[in-house]
Amino acid sequence: MSDQRFAELKNDLILRVCRGEKVERTPVWIMRQAGRYLPEFKEVRADVDFFTVCRNPELACKVTLQPIDRFPGLDAAIIFSDILVIPQAMGLEVQMIPGKGPHFPDPVREPSEMSRVKYPVDIKKELQYVFDAITLTRQRLEGRVPLIGFSGAPWTLLSYCIEGGGISGSGMNHAKLWLYKYKEESHRFLKMLTDTVVGYLIGQVDAGAQLLQVFDSWSGDLSPDLFDEYCLPYLVDIAKRVKEVHPTIPMICFAKGSNFGLTKLAQLSQYDVLGIDWTIEPKVAREFVAGTNKVLQGNMDPAVMFAGQEVIDREVERMINSFGTQRYIANLGHGMQPSMTIDSAANFISSVHNISTRLASE
Ligand code: CP3
Repeated sequence: MSDQRFAELKNDLILRVCRGEKVERTPVWIMRQAGRYLPEFKEVRADVDFFTVCRNPELACKVTLQPIDRFPGLDAAIIFSDILVIPQAMGLEVQMIPGKGPHFPDPVREPSEMSRVKYPVDIKKELQYVFDAITLTRQRLEGRVPLIGFSGAPWTLLSYCIEGGGISGSGMNHAKLWLYKYKEESHRFLKMLTDTVVGYLIGQVDAGAQLLQVFDSWSGDLSPDLFDEYCLPYLVDIAKRVKEVHPTIPMICFAKGSNFGLTKLAQLSQYDVLGIDWTIEPKVAREFVAGTNKVLQGNMDPAVMFAGQEVIDREVERMINSFGTQRYIANLGHGMQPSMTIDSAANFISSVHNISTRLASE
């Protein structure tokens, strides 16, 4: 299906994998491939605030293309934005504090405060800037690689709205209190977020996104019981509703750390691809999704990126051997970090190319 607005795709490897086709090598992209490890990104950020970059289609497009220009081996671009544009669209203030991360000055700590959350959201009005960035980026990509759109998952977004930031290592006591004590309100809030995410993802495809990823970055903090009640049904609902409108758009779900949830996600959801982090052996993940046709994505420990080319090569080979070369998209198990080097990213990408090409031809 070609879209007359944009150039013909020259590299459709990742889309072929998503469709379950046999491929000559493993496609590769890197979460946070645009970011502070790139001097050209830091140069843009030197003069402008993080969310100003997100809200300015020219700048968002520019930083999206930076890793594509630098690393011709990447098989996909991901639009530069943040998962927290959804809480912003729902009327909550979110700041990005340098060196600290996201901060909500006024988080929704009590159910009685939910009246501050705007719903339903006029998605076109509030998030048109993302759609414009996507359309512009599709044009400037000139068909080099497909463009990935993304959203945060309802639970991960809820956890930010309630905690207000500083989630990593926090224990998430505020957000989990809702799940245990205010069940009905938690479900109501998750439903509001889900409806917004669905409209947002559909809008991204309308604007030109060729693949979608849903990030449930904090699902691994939940017990299997809480995952089943508060993550799974909403993740399932999102894929179902987006696919009703865009049945052929490949969708990736990355419920980070929720290894126990893989089997249910595979059996119940319409995602084409499931992402995994490094806390599960790829072979074992394959067993968890056995009997479904899911593609897997991941999962190299980002820490390997600090260990130099030889170790990266060794770990990439181990990883691809465990996943197999087919129905697989290579990535890290989480994002690039500011202190990682450009060489490490280049090494990872070329390593995936070389090793998967060799293994796929054996
Ligand atoms: O992958 C890409 O290249 C696309 C861009 C992207 C960003 N955020 C840019 C960003 C994507 C896909 C995200 C998603 C996102 N944002 C997630 C899900 C992925 C994950 O990491 O689990 C989450 C949890 C967020 C929330 C968020 N935004 C955090 C926790 C932080 C701070 C992280 C840090 O390293 O400081 C951000 C800020 C952010 N988002 C940066 C970038 C490049 C760094 C901020 C800066 O430029 O000053």
